Amino acid sequence: MISRKAIQPLPDKLISQIAAGEVIERPSAVVKELLENAIDAGAQAIEIRLEEGGCQRIVISDDGEGILKTDLTLALTRHATSKISSLEDLESVRSMGFRGEALASIASVSNMQMTTRTAQDDHAWSITNRSPEITPASGEFGTRISVDDLFFNTPARRKFLKSSATEYSHCMEAIRRIALANPHVGMSVWHNGKPNIRWTASKLQDRADEILGKEFANARLDIESFLGPISIEGFIGAPTASRARSDQQYIFVNHRFVKDKLIYHAIKSAYQDVLHGDRQPIILFNLNIDPELVDVNVHPAKIEVRFRDSRAVHQFVYNSIKERLAKGAGDALPMSAQTPHFDTSLPLNQMNASSSTTPQVMPRPWLYQEKTASFNLQSSAKEAMQQLFSTPLTPMAPPHETGHKEESFPLGYALAQLHGIYILAQNQLGLVLVDMHAAHERVLYEKFKADLSHQINVQHLLVPMVFNASHMETVLTQQYASTLKILGFDTSVYGPEQLGIRTVPTILSGADPIDLVRQILAELDEMGSNEILDSARHERLASKACHAAVRAHRLLTIPEMNSLLRQMEVTDRADQCNHGRPTWVQLSVNDLDKLFLRGR
Ligand SMILES: Nc1ncnc2c1ncn2[C@@H]1O[C@H](COP(=O)(O)OP(=O)(O)OP(=O)(O)O)[C@@H](O)[C@H]1O
Ligand SMILES: [Mg+2]
Repeated sequence: MISRKAIQPLPDKLISQIAAGEVIERPSAVVKELLENAIDAGAQAIEIRLEEGGCQRIVISDDGEGILKTDLTLALTRHATSKISSLEDLESVRSMGFRGEALASIASVSNMQMTTRTAQDDHAWSITNRSPEITPASGEFGTRISVDDLFFNTPARRKFLKSSATEYSHCMEAIRRIALANPHVGMSVWHNGKPNIRWTASKLQDRADEILGKEFANARLDIESFLGPISIEGFIGAPTASRARSDQQYIFVNHRFVKDKLIYHAIKSAYQDVLHGDRQPIILFNLNIDPELVDVNVHPAKIEVRFRDSRAVHQFVYNSIKERLAKGAGDALPMSAQTPHFDTSLPLNQMNASSSTTPQVMPRPWLYQEKTASFNLQSSAKEAMQQLFSTPLTPMAPPHETGHKEESFPLGYALAQLHGIYILAQNQLGLVLVDMHAAHERVLYEKFKADLSHQINVQHLLVPMVFNASHMETVLTQQYASTLKILGFDTSVYGPEQLGIRTVPTILSGADPIDLVRQILAELDEMGSNEILDSARHERLASKACHAAVRAHRLLTIPEMNSLLRQMEVTDRADQCNHGRPTWVQLSVNDLDKLFLRGR
């Protein structure tokens, strides 16, 4: 019998350490949590002191409301918070914190000391995570928390820390995010005993210019718009000041820094006409939204949010930016005549309503495009599949019609097709069996690859093929527009959940473009984040496309089979399919004789 350990509840400290694993990834996460607490406490000035990039020491002092002596022990206790006390509170939360977990998590992986004084206290009180004792201390109004030797008791985590310079830069990024979200709060940063930064309380524009520098100051266009329960305020960058990376995109939702794919997508779409696909605009804005219309309890570190009505938010952000770009940059912006223009007067009051009402906020031009283009979706798909086999496989006459002998061609001439899978052919040696789809895929792929090495020949579709796509597909299309183009698919986003295809690679022009694009997007999703792909990965995508192109079974005519055999003969590596299996086998007359015990 296998010996089995008894089930036991985990000790409290271990639970906190497990929770810390999610939230406290590195020193910058401690900095973020402590700063958020200071902001929640109404601080007007915050001082941050770091040693060795925060690995050795993080001390954050604020002038906020402080903590009562009677609450001090609870502040370090897991699942204890002053910020919410019911589900309703959670659903309308405006504070940065609400999980009541951050301090307990940090305390479980460091040596922590907290000194605090409220307006009622004559002096400060201090507590550490090593003893339950609360001792009188000297200190100003507000709270000072020091975190020493982070991860000293979780060596596995500690091992993942990078150089102190790297950790310091992560800390600085966390600090910048909070500073940009709270320009009214003065902040100073010290590193290894030296003063590094001092930001006085100011307006967003001044704080942003100070943090993001000259490039931003010269490029910023202020943006302000509102619609019902949602508003946007801040700056967007002029297209001329775009960057190769998205490192200057600061998006806040109710002053919380977030990484939100939906908003990124809305931004990219809005810049689509004025920015080359792989360039990134500078962005700094806060999206103010009724807290009941956004769920902030989605991610342990609260970096993601979920909107009740994501489509309405998308449209609002898209419209706001698009309109601002049209207004601000004048001649520099070649706004195309077909630029979708959305009616922003549409009510947004259904944002908290059920999704059945959302079509009302669907931008009209998208619906229009869907109608005009949908005819070429259904009707052409079947034809296209037929073309796939007839175009590249130009029918060839069998030998008896041309006077050729079998030996003229190594793979001989087709006799028949078996179960729609195999071609039976006769050559001088005997019988050739060809795995039709594997062989065809190989032939296409080798051509594709040869094209890929210089430039893919493309065929323009008469009308862009517009189709409904998932949100993920639109996001991927946006992200990998240039990759798709390299592969011959000029594809772009027509709406939050609509894509349009304008060109397809000529060699795959017979296949269903939508299916091909979908396959490639699925593969891109799997391959992951890097937007710039090397040629090996382009080839992998090409291979995926070829696979998709020949998937559908169809009976070939004898001339088509012969055409495939001829193409195999002139294609490199045609003996194996893309997965290394053989595409054909030879059975000599001798082999066949043996099967029948002939000649023994
Ligand atoms: N700098 C501070 N000033 C005043 N009170 C604070 C400060 N830091 C923490 N507190 C108090 O300690 C409590 C626990 O803080 P902690 O960060 O662990 O949880 P939280 O902020 O409530 O939620 P979350 O885990 O989401 O951050 C807070 O609810 C708050 O009452
Ligand atoms: Mg907190």
